[in-house]
Amino acid sequence: MLEGEAEAPSNIAIVKYWGKRGDPKLNLPLNDSFSISLDALKVKTRVTFDKSLMKDEVIINGKKLPEDKTVEYAGKVLNKLREISGTKIYAKVESYSNFPESAGLASSAAGIAALTLASAKALGLSLDTKELSIIARIGSGSACRSVFGGFVIWHAGTSDKGDDSFCESMFPYDHWEELVDIIPIFSEEKKQVSSRQGMKLTTTSSALLKCRLDFVNNTFTDVIESVKNRNPQRFFQLTIRHSNSMHAVMLDSFPPLIYLNSFSLDVIRAFGDGNIAGYTFDAGPNPHIFTLRKNLNVVKETLDKLGAKKIIISGISPGPRLDGF
Ligand code: ADP
Ligand code: DP6
Repeated sequence: MLEGEAEAPSNIAIVKYWGKRGDPKLNLPLNDSFSISLDALKVKTRVTFDKSLMKDEVIINGKKLPEDKTVEYAGKVLNKLREISGTKIYAKVESYSNFPESAGLASSAAGIAALTLASAKALGLSLDTKELSIIARIGSGSACRSVFGGFVIWHAGTSDKGDDSFCESMFPYDHWEELVDIIPIFSEEKKQVSSRQGMKLTTTSSALLKCRLDFVNNTFTDVIESVKNRNPQRFFQLTIRHSNSMHAVMLDSFPPLIYLNSFSLDVIRAFGDGNIAGYTFDAGPNPHIFTLRKNLNVVKETLDKLGAKKIIISGISPGPRLDGF
């Protein structure tokens, strides 16, 4: 039996990935994205390659994943690594998140990144971080960013095969220590349309998508500069605009994709001027609200008034660990 373990952080994209190019199986994005790895949301995974298994098995927080989901996500990473190492042995994957599944927070990015690192370790493969990010990407696009800590850029690339669609670290985790992510939980519901299905719908039906891609390309370096210079107001404003731009093309898809709820709209109204904080929403109603540590209490008070059931505070993650357990 070959065994490996790893822990990887979740990440939240400031410049978001929403829409694929080329072969959908390769998760190749239409645009570059930029994310922050989060210290408070992590996944630990143990992978065991075992000759007695007849297929791959994934167990998340003690619950076995259905076979179709196993094949569609984790299976792609495992197949790629089996191909590289020249083995045919199936694997058992045991994964645990350090936050409740019921919180409605996305954990697939951290989970697929941890799986990639743990499996490569189990198979004794010495792959560099660029290669590991490419393999994690094949499992789930946003997972390639969770191979790194700190502030991460995912280059969309142009190749059909995806060998230039990988991530790298832009700034280390301690580059902007005052910056903090506040995650209020308003809804614990699981989303009805997966990111994968949603992106397909937007790519095939949204007339505004082209406009969003122009916006992303025209403001990408401004986002990086705002972080480089630790300029909170500029960063908050751009964070808000990039989130809104993604949710605009979601709404413009047909049939419309709506991931936000009435609490999300309250957050948008409360923080939309970008003065003390900047919010961003993934494909779900719970926001990530970036602010400076000195504003933490003011932001929390507002969120309490809006009816947050729980509030998670996250700093920036230094990155994955290979001694997860
Ligand atoms: P998201 O995190 O993008 O909101 P889900 O939580 O629905 O989406 O996860 C999408 C898929 O990712 C799941 O169906 C599962 O196949 C895979 N996945 C999620 N977490 C893990 C994990 N810890 N290990 C392996 N695969 C995972
Ligand atoms: C809204 O990475 O989950 O979180 O590549 O199909 O697995 P697949 O999609 P996924 O989509 C993430 C979408 C997002 C934005 C982002 O993280 O950039």
